[in-house]
Amino acid sequence: MAIARARVYHSVPFDVRNLVTSSVATLRSQGPPDDQVVETFERRFAEHVGAAHCVSFAFARTAVHQALESQALSHGSEVLMPPITISPMMDAVLSLGLRPVFVDIDPNSLIFDVEAFERAITPNTRAALITYLFGIAADPTPLIEVAARAGLFVIEDFSHNLGASVGGRSLGTFGDVGVYSCSATKTLDAYGGGLAVTNSTSLAGLLRTAQRRLPHPPARRVPPKVLVDLAWNAGSHKSMWSAVAFPLIRALRRWAPGVEDAISGANTPGAGTGELAPEAFERLSAHQARVGLAVLPSVEPGNEQRRRDAERLRGALRGLGCSVPQGAPAGVHVFWQTVVVVDDPAGFQRALARLGIDTAPTNLPLLSDGGLYPDVAKSCTVAERIKQRAFYVPMNNRMSRRDRARVTDAVVQVLGGRGGG
Ligand SMILES: Cc1ncc(COP(=O)(O)O)c(C=O)c1O
Repeated sequence: MAIARARVYHSVPFDVRNLVTSSVATLRSQGPPDDQVVETFERRFAEHVGAAHCVSFAFARTAVHQALESQALSHGSEVLMPPITISPMMDAVLSLGLRPVFVDIDPNSLIFDVEAFERAITPNTRAALITYLFGIAADPTPLIEVAARAGLFVIEDFSHNLGASVGGRSLGTFGDVGVYSCSATKTLDAYGGGLAVTNSTSLAGLLRTAQRRLPHPPARRVPPKVLVDLAWNAGSHKSMWSAVAFPLIRALRRWAPGVEDAISGANTPGAGTGELAPEAFERLSAHQARVGLAVLPSVEPGNEQRRRDAERLRGALRGLGCSVPQGAPAGVHVFWQTVVVVDDPAGFQRALARLGIDTAPTNLPLLSDGGLYPDVAKSCTVAERIKQRAFYVPMNNRMSRRDRARVTDAVVQVLGGRGGG
């Protein structure tokens, strides 16, 4: 049986139940919105991360937009941006009349290279969006120090890194504000949602005021989001994956390259418009907050298990001609995805596929290449290499112990030169 590279961290029955309850809610006449449950979720999330405050929004991109807007930056102010992230982060910046400036990343930490970061700062730079990738705990302290000297407002996107820490401090709490996305496949998947955490009471106040200006979402907003999770969840279930999805993906890779990217979300439709969609400017729904509260207790046990499995795999790969991003020596990773950087991407993918294991590079776009944002394109060679050669290897909490061992053996076999390539 084949193994999918990414899974939704809910059970199929959980998604089915939520599809039913959220659909029923769209049919019932709505009572007053349940702000209490949203506030409870915000409080629990802040406690979980070790931050003083949390303010929720409909998306992480909204949290970034509102955080930047709260700083009243003048038109054309520069914001240092990661070359690999979702395109709406760029659109959030552009929609405020700010100028995104890409900075290359470090191959070991996957966050901004410190020297490149320092070099990119001009008298017009006002903010930076540090983005942690794949669950690798990287130390942002040197960047934060450079940013502090230049008076920059620092946002950390820790959507891949909930529970990751450096020196005992959670990622997301080093800068002025941390943002987390509760979207599909994240470890705290609440059918969407963006959570801003901060230790600054004044910033929390500004974010709260911004949040209260936003309307509550209509109840009909949630069921399509649940349906996306459910489709993904059922489609990546072992039997469906083996019988339908994986053979289809392999055929597409062969006969229609590019279609897989479109399906996986690497090329978000409507991306690059420089605007956020109207539904970004709504609040988090009570239904999503309830789901978030239900899922939150399982996040850390899941992290523990992935840490053990990923470290076992990374240990087995030593000396096999591949590299793995190490992150901070004092870092506690969460391995949202287990990533291996290989020299022969196509060969690696084909060889593992022959063993029934799906791998692929990140579906996050390389935004610096000028495809979507030609005006601000910039050569970011490390990010380019990561986009092409850093492969997601399936190693998640939805896999059986046997499958986790099978993946480790297969990757060792392929990279050890015994699996072809
Ligand atoms: C780094 C990163 N940030 C944010 C998001 C999602 O943000 P949003 O909640 O705006 O969809 C994702 C992926 O979905 C991501 O990979």
